[in-house]
Amino acid sequence: MFAADDVCELLNRRRKDPGGAVLGLATGGTPLGLYRELILRYQRNEISFATVETFNLDEYVGVAPDSPKSYHYYMRENLFQHVDIDMSLTHVPETFDVDLKSSAERFEHQIEQAGGIDLQILGIGVDAHIGFNEIGSSLGSRTRVKTLTQQTRLDNARYFDSLDEVPETALTMGIATILESQAILLMATGSQKSKAIRDSVEGPITASVPASALQLHPDVTLVIDRAAASGLVNIDYFLRAERNRAVASRSS
Ligand code: F6R
Repeated sequence: MFAADDVCELLNRRRKDPGGAVLGLATGGTPLGLYRELILRYQRNEISFATVETFNLDEYVGVAPDSPKSYHYYMRENLFQHVDIDMSLTHVPETFDVDLKSSAERFEHQIEQAGGIDLQILGIGVDAHIGFNEIGSSLGSRTRVKTLTQQTRLDNARYFDSLDEVPETALTMGIATILESQAILLMATGSQKSKAIRDSVEGPITASVPASALQLHPDVTLVIDRAAASGLVNIDYFLRAERNRAVASRSS
């Protein structure tokens, strides 16, 4: 699995470094397969998370960290409790019973203190949001509270008992925060993401398509299935480029 290979390569390369690897993590349906694969590789002793520091993209405002609806809970359930990670080195934005502005500033400061994010994992919304940077998010934005679009609330209602229960706001890394990561790996599956992928990859850079800001980053890899790629006009070119990349990495 390509995404897991990339994460494992980073973890093993940085294992002996004093600080260890710094990983940016996402939640939602898309990275679940990646987390399952990382757990398997940990169980096979192929990787260790002992020195890894993590930063999650976002958390709903007003959802307690022990609630099954929270991203704190999601991360514990789907990755952290299955591996040898030091929980004090895991950071999911604090949004419950805290001053949100200070929490956002603290989060940015923690990323800085960790030396920045080595590899940021991203999913993408059907409206091309990354993190919870919704349409119109400033391309220079940093961690802050954002109002979720109705589309995002509808898409995430499956994790709640009703649409009314889906929070209105979330604390999210900003687009500029994400762009400061050394490398970015964006994952997407399914035809419902094809327009977002096409607009982000082949459209103009615009705040109306938040993921289009990734065009400004020198090291972004897209790991997407055929359905998510189906809207790309230059699909033949991208497939050839992928084949050449595979040949180049085999011969290096
Ligand atoms: C999650 C996040 C969001 C999701 C996006 C796609 O932490 O930041 O941007 O990646 O909403 O969600 P799924 O994967 O559920 O389609």
